Amino acid sequence: MTSNEIRKSFMDFFESKQHKIVPSAPVIPHGDPTLLFTNAGMNQFKDVFLGSGSREYSRAADTQKCIRVSGKHNDLEEVGVDTYHHTFFEMLGNWSFGDYYKKEAISWAWELITKVWNLPTERIHATVYRTDDEAMEYWKEFLPSDRIHRFDEKDNFWEMGETGPCGPCSEIHFDRTSDLSGGKLVNAGSPEVIEIWNLVFIQFNRKTDGSLEELKSKHVDTGMGFERICAVIQGKNSNYDSDVFSPIINEISKLSGISYNGGLTDPDSIAMRVIADHVRTLSFAIADGAMPGNEGRSYVLRRILRRACRFARKLGMNDPVIYKLLPVLIDTMGYVFPELQNQFNTIERVIKAEEESFLATLERGLDKTDDIFTKLKNENKTAVDGADAFLLYDSFGFPLDLTELIARENGFSVDTEGFQENMAAQRARSRAARKNISQDVEIPIVETKTEFVGYENTLSEAEVIFIKDNMVVLDRTPFYAESGGQISDTGNLIINGISYEVIDVKKHGNAYLHICSTEVEPTIGVTALAKIDQQRRRAIMRNHSATHLFHEALRTVLGSHVQQAGSLVSPEYLRFDFNHFERVSEEKIAEIEKIVNAKIMDAINVETRILSIDEARKNSKIKMFFGDKYGEIVRAVVMDEKYSLELCGGTHVKNTSEIGFFKIISESSIAAGVRRVEAVSGFGIEKFIQGLHNKITEKNDHAGTLTDKIKQLEKEIAALKMQNLKSTMKTWISSAANIDDVKVIAAFAVFDSIETMRHSAEELRTMMGNSSIGLISCILNEKAQLVCVVSDDLLKRTNAGKLVGEAAKRLGGGGGGKPQLATAGGKDITKIDDLLKEFPQMVKLAIEH
Ligand code: ALA
Repeated sequence: MTSNEIRKSFMDFFESKQHKIVPSAPVIPHGDPTLLFTNAGMNQFKDVFLGSGSREYSRAADTQKCIRVSGKHNDLEEVGVDTYHHTFFEMLGNWSFGDYYKKEAISWAWELITKVWNLPTERIHATVYRTDDEAMEYWKEFLPSDRIHRFDEKDNFWEMGETGPCGPCSEIHFDRTSDLSGGKLVNAGSPEVIEIWNLVFIQFNRKTDGSLEELKSKHVDTGMGFERICAVIQGKNSNYDSDVFSPIINEISKLSGISYNGGLTDPDSIAMRVIADHVRTLSFAIADGAMPGNEGRSYVLRRILRRACRFARKLGMNDPVIYKLLPVLIDTMGYVFPELQNQFNTIERVIKAEEESFLATLERGLDKTDDIFTKLKNENKTAVDGADAFLLYDSFGFPLDLTELIARENGFSVDTEGFQENMAAQRARSRAARKNISQDVEIPIVETKTEFVGYENTLSEAEVIFIKDNMVVLDRTPFYAESGGQISDTGNLIINGISYEVIDVKKHGNAYLHICSTEVEPTIGVTALAKIDQQRRRAIMRNHSATHLFHEALRTVLGSHVQQAGSLVSPEYLRFDFNHFERVSEEKIAEIEKIVNAKIMDAINVETRILSIDEARKNSKIKMFFGDKYGEIVRAVVMDEKYSLELCGGTHVKNTSEIGFFKIISESSIAAGVRRVEAVSGFGIEKFIQGLHNKITEKNDHAGTLTDKIKQLEKEIAALKMQNLKSTMKTWISSAANIDDVKVIAAFAVFDSIETMRHSAEELRTMMGNSSIGLISCILNEKAQLVCVVSDDLLKRTNAGKLVGEAAKRLGGGGGGKPQLATAGGKDITKIDDLLKEFPQMVKLAIEH
């Protein structure tokens, strides 16, 4: 049987037992803050087990995508070094919600594995919880007593996490030993006898204080590792040899040029198993909307990716390579999980970008580790100290396990305690920086519920049900508490005639916590008047509705791969983060703005619709977000049936025309493949335009001042030049040639225009006084220019025009002008020197005596 056939036969079997086949929930859990990743098939039914939710069916079966890398169920360290643990795996499961119980769960399990899959019965062992005689009796129908084993809490009491549904369980193990001697290896961590199916009899809820609370109904929750059962049915000792993994392993072999020998301790085989496992985890998590990053689950993903990269390097693959495995993965699993194909581009680009950036960091970090190791050697130390390990983590992105790995390779250990201390200190620092005021408040969460009346009202009377310090809880409130990106309302509470300013509102369980700027007189049971700042709220509503219009326009212009990665809606502006791989061009921005503004001008009525989550899921137009907690009943905000439908608990305008106008004010990148757009609407536009106007005016003023300044400077420069020239002229005059009774000046100077030359000549004429003739030459545009001046008293004997004409002839040119001052030009600049020497002689000949 192929893996696809095995999966299908599981579903067919339980369908024949009246189970509803349901889709896998995303691997990123919807709004369960106790979980980073979906880690068991039952996660999506937690509410049914606890009695707070229900389904239309009482029996269900599915294959659930699971990731186990943190918290109670963490298989990360086992991955690769054994052949049957995975960070990502599929869990086949069947459930009874208060319907059948132990008898059917056990006998159907037996029927499937021995009658449908024909596993050899002599290889099957069962375990039961030490006191579970009932399960023991049912098993005895199929198995001899020596193959039914009792275990205690550690192995046979299953719990979802620190809190939540739990109960005794019964496991089915498969004996792979050649001589059927596996009895003593059950639960011994041996690959020769492995657990294949866990049947949990959910009976309790583990509470925060550690106590067990009996549930109203009894349920069945089973989970079978798909990869393991495939290996068992296909007669393989290693999951990686089954057809679930072999295509990926083969591809890694091809890319690295190293063949896979499957050895348990062979470093190359370990590396290949790790990579094959991790690429699945990364691909499925990203397909379901998660991104590698610096916090929470994002950080876990980043670590997994980096781990995979490290192992790829061990195989000699120093360039990005993990992303290249994606096509093979899609070939193997895309048929069952179409999200892999749908999100192909996103997954590929995110992984590639992360690989590139990590490999660059790695190079820098490896230089740093070299320094650290040299220092340790010099100081004769054997362990990398906590501060250095933390530095590698904090500044170079090395997770602790990576540092340990590299240290080990170089013969050092790592002071992990010291590392944790540094880590804790940093956490404390960032906690202090956040100063989350409501975090430490004790409120009887379950009993306290606030009704939100703020969709319709901005003012409400309400009963005060809790006060502590500056925090107030009312039975109803018009104050919106920060959620879904929309920030809280602010306003006032009037209690016993005193008005308190509300500066923030937070949800605490079902209660709305009004945080005031001052302490509130503690009086319970009185009526308060709650009043929000209406203007501010309206601005928030405009920005929130604009966000919905924008989101749809973004998808229209950039493509449907665009998914919201975060948002902020405040009175001043809106911010929207989304996955996309390149800058959004000016043209595209303009296109998006145009669509949004058209929708505003269309004056579309904004409707809210209450519907069941199933109805919502069926309507593919409705946008829903990973990470949001959706109950059975959801609220959709609709702006034109054909345009924008979005599940949203926020507050909105009644008609899009109220938004006024929409303008994007910035577009930037905040992480690999994640863009951020900031925009304004309503009065924000007024402010934006005012700002622009001020800037332009400022620029103009500035430009005016600059022009004046330039003119002024030019004047100053001209004056300075003239001053300079004047002193030069003085030396010309004092060294002038005396021809009979006439002083003759002949000089060369540098000018930037004919005008300044003329101007200077006039100056010279004044300075030289009577009985003087002057000739100044210069070169302008590679041509010789001449100006000649003659003092008034000599005008009856000669004139400037005649003299300059004569002079210009020597330079192969000509010219003329007034008797007092005349200019001329000539091409032959090489003759200027000669001309200047001969000029006095020329004057002598030309002047009448
Ligand atoms: N919820 C059970 C498990 O994860 C079936 O093992």
